[in-house]
Amino acid sequence: MIVLKMFSLLLIVGISVNEAVIIDCTYSIIRVWTVPNLYACQGKLISIGDPNNVTAVSHNHINGKSNNEVQALILDNSQIKSMLRNINQFYPNLESLTVRYSDITELNLEDLQDFPNLTQIDFGSNKIERLNWNLFKKTPKVKVIGLNWNPIKYIAHNVFDDLSELEMLHMNQRCFDRNINNNKSAIAAALFDIFQKCPPTLEMMKSEIVNGEELRKEIKAEIDEEINPLTWSVFEMGSKLIHYEAKITQNENQIQYLNNEIKILKLHLQSLMRFQEMLTKQKFP
Ligand SMILES: *[C@@H]1O[C@H](CO)[C@@H](O)[C@H](O)[C@H]1NC(C)=O
Ligand SMILES: *[C@@H]1O[C@H](CO)[C@@H](O)[C@H](O)[C@H]1NC(C)=O
Ligand SMILES: *[C@@H]1O[C@H](CO)[C@@H](O)[C@H](O)[C@H]1NC(C)=O
Repeated sequence: MIVLKMFSLLLIVGISVNEAVIIDCTYSIIRVWTVPNLYACQGKLISIGDPNNVTAVSHNHINGKSNNEVQALILDNSQIKSMLRNINQFYPNLESLTVRYSDITELNLEDLQDFPNLTQIDFGSNKIERLNWNLFKKTPKVKVIGLNWNPIKYIAHNVFDDLSELEMLHMNQRCFDRNINNNKSAIAAALFDIFQKCPPTLEMMKSEIVNGEELRKEIKAEIDEEINPLTWSVFEMGSKLIHYEAKITQNENQIQYLNNEIKILKLHLQSLMRFQEMLTKQKFP
């Protein structure tokens, strides 16, 4: 049955059978996690050849709707090891992306960047170990992030900095274990915690630096010479600030310790002065 459907699809869209991933959809208007009334594709993957490049989606839309109107994509139990490419060619206006119970091991900018209207992602129950640099750079509207049941250990610096709307974060991981719902101030505190507890690997930091170098080149190309050094300094100062923030926490503990030492020394000094006074009185009564 599925095979027949697939072949008819292949015939309709006229692509070669060697390299294809087809998303076989059940379309409906449903609530997806926090968002009600989304026109959604609940899909199954049918793949031949390259398992990551989507080449077609099924066209069994309801109510005369079209691909452009699809707001949510739900792919569960798909066994993919990295995020599919090319989905945006079919569904450019996705607001909600759900890919659960699969084998994805990391998330990158390229996985999300083609969906500027995303407000909600759910990658629960994968094998994600790391969130890489600039992950949300092109998806600043994201409000809700679901990453529960992943072995996340490493998170690149600044990953969440682009998300001013972020209000829900579900992350029960190795390095950070909390579910935060509709609370921006709790998010702000959590981000500092994540910064301290889930540092990126050396390799990830290197790629940050390399990417930073690329960014510098981009800026150089795009902005005229006069502004360029300034923009670059701002970028550099941003990264320095992050490192100092971590040091300040360490130093705050040291300052506390030194303050206590000073107090003790003052007490010693006072008693010595009293002793001296006593001696002076005995010598010259
Ligand atoms: C994915 O498939 C499309 C259409 O068949 C093709 O044009 C594109 O080059 C492929 N992309 C990759 C990364 O393989
Ligand atoms: C995103 O949303 C805006 C406004 O709702 C819309 O005009 C646009 O077409 C949507 N899609 C993309 C890909 O930007
Ligand atoms: C939001 O989180 C903060 C800090 O964790 C907490 O003090 C506050 O009570 C929370 N607000 C709500 C509405 O839950």
